[in-house]
Amino acid sequence: MAKPKPIRKAVFPVAGLGTRFLPATKAMPKEMLPIIDRPLIQYAVDEAREAGIEQLVFITGRGKTAIVEHFDMAFELETTMRDRQKALDALAPTRIQPGNLLTVRQQVPLGLGHAIWCARAVVGDEPFAVILPDELMVGKTGCLKQMVDAYAEVGGNLISVLEVPHDAVSSYGVIAPGARKGKLTEVTGLVEKPRIEAAPSNLIVSGRYILQPEVMQILGRQERGAGGEIQLTDAMAQLIGRQPFHAVPFAGRRYDCGSKAGFVEATLALALARPDLADDVRRTALELLGATPLAKASAMGC
Ligand code: UTP
Repeated sequence: MAKPKPIRKAVFPVAGLGTRFLPATKAMPKEMLPIIDRPLIQYAVDEAREAGIEQLVFITGRGKTAIVEHFDMAFELETTMRDRQKALDALAPTRIQPGNLLTVRQQVPLGLGHAIWCARAVVGDEPFAVILPDELMVGKTGCLKQMVDAYAEVGGNLISVLEVPHDAVSSYGVIAPGARKGKLTEVTGLVEKPRIEAAPSNLIVSGRYILQPEVMQILGRQERGAGGEIQLTDAMAQLIGRQPFHAVPFAGRRYDCGSKAGFVEATLALALARPDLADDVRRTALELLGATPLAKASAMGC
């Protein structure tokens, strides 16, 4: 196999409406909701940088300017903080090499596939990564880095996958698994939001992709799929058999921060993992658990 072209660009689709978090997301992008003190988009960008990504491409829409502001230089803030002798370390991850942040507008949120297609001119003829910022992937090695390492071995297209209970598959893109190659599994089919009985496995696509540029031509046909949206899963399915396609099981934990329960779970887990917060948060959590009627009932042997 010829050496695969390096992955230099990552596309971050952030143009969705975030309706599940209304009213919080009426004037603030969902991707700016913070898990403790970092917005979701910051975790996603940090993960991309760890994987060696150079260019960040944000697919934005109406009301999403705060995301671009977040990665801009806050001259007045920095000057004031410097005058007051406050450390600027917390702002370091928000700095992007000049010229390495690009934005493309998705005027109407027609679906994830459509959002990715909006990046076609920026992507050009290079393979590229896609990161969904509302899926927070926490691992010793970041999810995209794990994928980039696997890509160096097999090239082609890769998606990260997770195992979920069989009765949960209908909310996700699901893969049909083929032969195993070490840690990787060949992908022989992909289906978006299948009925439980029609699902080819319980391995779901989990918000990280490495794709070859040919996917843009397929997305350009603007075919509607599940929910009337232009689905990335459907376009990827058409690449199977034409190009190598593998699934990478993520060694780590995924939090679905697009859902309220997943968001709370991520906040709690990350707080418990932080030395500056763990003790206080554990104490409070135990106190609250002790105070619930359910915990009281079970303590009393009911
Ligand atoms: P989601 O479906 O989770 O986001 O899309 P949403 O539509 O904003 O959320 P709800 O369901 O209304 O609460 C996953 C990612 O894809 C982006 C979203 O911004 C999110 O980061 N997306 C989705 C787009 O950029 N454009 C779209 O047309 C759809």
